Amino acid sequence: MRRVTVALDPPYDVVVGAGALDELTPLLTGRRRVAVVTQEAIARPHLGPVLERLAAAGAEVTVLTIGPGEEDKNLGTVGRLCREAAASGLLRGDAVVTLGGGVVGDTGGFAAAVYHRGVAVVHVATTLLAMIDAAIGGKTAVNLPEGKNLVGAFHQPLGVVADLTLLASLPEREYRAGLGEVAKYALMPQGGAIRAEILTDPSALDARDPGQLEPVVAACAAITAEVVASDPFERTGARATLNYGHTLAHALETAGDHDLHHGEAVAVGLVFAGHLAGALERITPAHRDLHTEIVGGLGLPTSVPPGTATSAELLDLMRRDKKSHGGLTFVLPDSDGTLTAVDDPPAAALDAAFRAVGVES
Ligand SMILES: NC(=O)c1ccc[n+]([C@@H]2O[C@H](COP(=O)([O-])OP(=O)(O)OC[C@H]3O[C@@H](n4cnc5c(N)ncnc54)[C@H](O)[C@@H]3O)[C@@H](O)[C@H]2O)c1
Repeated sequence: MRRVTVALDPPYDVVVGAGALDELTPLLTGRRRVAVVTQEAIARPHLGPVLERLAAAGAEVTVLTIGPGEEDKNLGTVGRLCREAAASGLLRGDAVVTLGGGVVGDTGGFAAAVYHRGVAVVHVATTLLAMIDAAIGGKTAVNLPEGKNLVGAFHQPLGVVADLTLLASLPEREYRAGLGEVAKYALMPQGGAIRAEILTDPSALDARDPGQLEPVVAACAAITAEVVASDPFERTGARATLNYGHTLAHALETAGDHDLHHGEAVAVGLVFAGHLAGALERITPAHRDLHTEIVGGLGLPTSVPPGTATSAELLDLMRRDKKSHGGLTFVLPDSDGTLTAVDDPPAAALDAAFRAVGVES
């Protein structure tokens, strides 16, 4: 088991490994009542062991269930969670445990941020994406009909539990999509160890073996922790480097009406970003091609599914992205791998990058 500390005030740990669930007991000992927010498909295999750890902590438990998908990540769900928490007698000094992926963490985390003006929360991550990214850093939010994650709050957890045995029940496509974010960390300058692991045996992570996953998940979580601690409120731009590959990814998700899962879209977005950086002569051809090697090696798509959108349509969507400042902004590597935001690259470089991921103008 490994501990990654998020060096904020107060600091907290991301505990990674088989058996990390045991961490729930010390984290919640002394709390009178705990509300566990989860989903049916996750509760079935994993609620029992969570309840055992909470019983050992001496807490009374209420279980609150939300719907299975992104469409349930909304203010209506938050309102219902807060009402059910009130009905169960949850008070300011009590705690919330989210047991799930990014949807449960974002929705339950936001409810915890606003209920009684903020109650303590612990995230038990059950997807690869949540273990390395969504559960770390305190960003919580829900969607409005007008857009994704438009209402939210920063609310740092007491701790994050990444018990790798919980990944066994995750549907294959969700697991693979999580590897899209692993590819992002592998291609970051701090990702040398992850990169080496993947290049040595790209299919090593397919079996979801906790022993093989542990160093990789802990290394990814450590990068997130370091970036988050350097820019906790997303003000300096440092945290934006975690959006490597995401500019095109968000446009692909919208254009394809979410046919591509987030991590799959990030995978293609990374290949695009590599080619864009290559066309701008920021990186060597070998560094550019490493993007395709890592993404393809992990069994993820390296090109846009045919018929998704034209380059003009994707450019239009990218200009309207909520993180855009009106123009086009890409997080791109330079020769030493450092990621920086690049505004409005020339059309010829964009064309070359689009062609490389199979999109014609
Ligand atoms: N807060 C952040 O910093 C942050 C960062 C990245 C993404 N996100 C958000 O995360 C969400 C995506 O999260 P996700 O990719 O974790 O997917 P998810 O939470 O939607 O989970 C995917 C599906 O898998 C099921 N599932 C999850 N864990 C399971 C398990 N162990 N066994 C069986 N089924 C399981 C869920 O019920 C769900 O149907 C998006 O809403 C995104 O906006 C937030």
